[in-house]
Amino acid sequence: MSPQFQQFAAAAPWVVLLFAAIVFPLLFFVPAPYGRYGRPGWGPTMPAKVAWVLMESFSFFLFAALWWLNPRFGTPVVLVLGVAWLVHYAQRTFVFSLLMRDENRRKPLLTVLMAIVFNVLNAVGNAVSLTDRAIDLPLVLGLSIFVFGMGVNLHSDHVLRGLRKPGETGYLIPKGGFFSWLSAPNYFGEILEWVGFAIAAQTLAGWAFAAFTVANLAPRALSNHRWYRQKFPDYPAGRRALIPFVW
Ligand SMILES: NC(=O)c1ccc[n+]([C@@H]2O[C@H](COP(=O)([O-])OP(=O)(O)OC[C@H]3O[C@@H](n4cnc5c(N)ncnc54)[C@H](OP(=O)(O)O)[C@@H]3O)[C@@H](O)[C@H]2O)c1
Repeated sequence: MSPQFQQFAAAAPWVVLLFAAIVFPLLFFVPAPYGRYGRPGWGPTMPAKVAWVLMESFSFFLFAALWWLNPRFGTPVVLVLGVAWLVHYAQRTFVFSLLMRDENRRKPLLTVLMAIVFNVLNAVGNAVSLTDRAIDLPLVLGLSIFVFGMGVNLHSDHVLRGLRKPGETGYLIPKGGFFSWLSAPNYFGEILEWVGFAIAAQTLAGWAFAAFTVANLAPRALSNHRWYRQKFPDYPAGRRALIPFVW
């Protein structure tokens, strides 16, 4: 890898942290314009399904290539963390995207381009910085949190996907699993995944991604929570937005 590329990879997590600091306050006032907050005025759009595959492909293929080129590739810690990352993004890119039901849903091109820029920085920073060490408590604890979070995220996305009958486009009250406690358990699971990954990897890039995930998803979880309570008078009163029993 050229010195310029190594400089770019070293700078990437700092840019991700800067993005986190910018989007966190902003998203409390301006929800990202997709899904239930989709609205005109954000420029040209593209089919949501294609958009998800395109955006998330960078996190899968670019990471895979750089992970393979990492001089520590093949050592146990680098191997297991790379596999965890790729399992997540294989699911998100090829399973989640293609199982999405509504063929007419569209996403603003602007949000897709922003996600691609972010995913490139994030994949580069994380793949290049993975390094070997002894198998220790942070690795085992972090990976356990990652796997648990992934279970919560997958189950919650599965519940959401099953709510609509074929052809329906409206919103219903999700039930079961972590929806018993939360309005946005898919985001709760996603945050646990990347906090777990950061604990396990112990890299700046890992922590920057965890911070960005919180900055991106916590405001949206709150918006979703308020939206459900406004839309459904019978919405379960005990549910929190993102953190069971707390918030
Ligand atoms: N790491 C990150 O920063 C990051 C960022 C964004 C997303 N993600 C992950 O990507 C996945 C998708 O995120 P998202 O923001 O698109 O999730 P979402 O808004 O909860 O929507 C997921 C899917 O479920 C549908 N849906 C949601 N609530 C519904 C309801 N009450 N009734 C019927 N259908 C409903 C949505 O349809 P509509 O499209 O019609 O709303 C969409 O197809 C999640 O696992 C999330 O954690 C990660």
